[in-house]
Amino acid sequence: MIRVSDLRYQYSDSGPVLRGINYAQGSGESVALLGANGSGKTTFALHLNGILQGQGQIEIDGIRVESHTLEAVRRKVGFVFQSAENQLFLPTVLEDVMFGLLNQGVGVEEARQRAMQMIVSLNLEAYAERNPFHLSAGEKRRAALGGVLLMEPEVLILDEPTTFLDPPGIRSLSQMLNRQSMAKIIITHDSRFAIETTTRAVFFEKGQIVAEGPTREIIDRFGWL
Ligand SMILES: Nc1ncnc2c1ncn2[C@@H]1O[C@H](COP(=O)(O)OP(=O)(O)OP(=O)(O)O)[C@@H](O)[C@H]1O
Ligand SMILES: [Mg+2]
Repeated sequence: MIRVSDLRYQYSDSGPVLRGINYAQGSGESVALLGANGSGKTTFALHLNGILQGQGQIEIDGIRVESHTLEAVRRKVGFVFQSAENQLFLPTVLEDVMFGLLNQGVGVEEARQRAMQMIVSLNLEAYAERNPFHLSAGEKRRAALGGVLLMEPEVLILDEPTTFLDPPGIRSLSQMLNRQSMAKIIITHDSRFAIETTTRAVFFEKGQIVAEGPTREIIDRFGWL
């Protein structure tokens, strides 16, 4: 499903941030990206749907990620950003969650129904008509996730999804993710959550993947608990 070879990247005002990443992931597989602050996890993930474009090759489901394939790639890869604020921009939660469906050409009534179902399953029904900016941080994250899940991506990338969530919220998120059959990439500092939601982990250090293996083993090896 995902194949990355020798990916290199640096920001205009940084030194090398990704220093030759090789990565592969099967369809339906769930992988945790672990590693210290600044090790390159978010930068790497932003390449998978072409938000950043570095040197090297990336293929998603047989499609090379290039400027002219971005539309197709973004239909396959759903991304919930580290700061959910960047993802919510319409006057109500319902409109925000519906937005992607409408964009895909789904009719208004059907989009509204499917969005409401998602909102209910995320425990946000009381907020459907509220302004997303007035939600709490954890509620914003859930709303952003809802919009992305409705697009039924083949790859779901979640960048620090447990930040701001309370313990029951984390539990229901991991249960919800474990019911989803798409490939998942979960960037997290929450080791317990990683163990609950992924089978394999890769460990980033200074822009390189320095280890990979079963999630529990990697966490133990790096003392990442
Ligand atoms: N927009 C940017 N411009 C310049 N440098 C950046 C930018 N974004 C990130 N960096 C730098 O790139 C490096 C990797 O950052 P990245 O956000 O990928 O790390 P991360 O592993 O996701 O960290 P965290 O766990 O803190 O989210 C860091 O040194 C960071 O300072
Ligand atoms: Mg990050």
